[in-house]
Amino acid sequence: MLFKNFCKLFISCLICWQIAAPTSTALIQSKYYSYRQPSFDGTGKYYMGREIAQVMGHQGAGWLERPDRATEEQPQKMVAALGLKSTDVVADIGAGTGYISQLIARQVPQGKVLAVDVQPEMVELLKQRIKNSKITNIQPQLGTEQSPKLPPASIDLAIMVDAYHEFSYPREMMTEIVNALQPGGRVVLTEYRGEDPKVNIKPRHKTTQKQIQQEMKAVGLKLLKNESVLPQQHLFFFGKS
Ligand SMILES: C[S@@+](CC[C@H](N)C(=O)[O-])C[C@H]1O[C@@H](n2cnc3c(N)ncnc32)[C@H](O)[C@@H]1O
Repeated sequence: MLFKNFCKLFISCLICWQIAAPTSTALIQSKYYSYRQPSFDGTGKYYMGREIAQVMGHQGAGWLERPDRATEEQPQKMVAALGLKSTDVVADIGAGTGYISQLIARQVPQGKVLAVDVQPEMVELLKQRIKNSKITNIQPQLGTEQSPKLPPASIDLAIMVDAYHEFSYPREMMTEIVNALQPGGRVVLTEYRGEDPKVNIKPRHKTTQKQIQQEMKAVGLKLLKNESVLPQQHLFFFGKS
């Protein structure tokens, strides 16, 4: 009887340990990613020392369309800084409702914007936006977590506005994005400044220049400039090294 109880206790301790252990240390290590207990706005998945943020669900689409966004973030300044040619083909990856795609589309009347998102609901909202406007040069596209589905050497510029830190497979996504660049093509990232405590955004949704630079270097990109024109966000320009 005593032995039976001891065995029961031993087995329950073993089960408890198996459940508790992964929360304290790195659980699984894959080629690029490791996994730990998620923080409050994180996924628990780590890439090059950064915890990947949770994806902003389509239920939050209203936030992307908030009326004071234009004054808070000044996206017009960002679009002006891109220096686009009227014939450029731009991939807006993590396009959400197409708020930014629409601003860019006006600058490339003979080109086009490929507006890619991973959530079918966001792509639907984007289609509604196009239907309700007279825009003809935005092409909505459903991507996957690992691929924006862009053909090789097909784009002049890839832009990710407040989206990169949510990619659950950043290495795979960026490798494909780099392959999709035409010769001389550029990658632009707009990210809330992680170095600035006054930027009132959830921590995992902010990034630092140091971190982004090392992640881009890993896929063969070098920093061309970080334009300081936006009130809360970095505006990084990268090209192939
Ligand atoms: C915070 S929203 C920003 C939307 C838009 N760029 C804007 O500024 O209005 C981030 C978007 O990235 C999308 N996203 C996350 N991971 C993605 C991936 N791997 N490929 C494409 N889109 C992704 C999400 O579905 C979401 O719509």
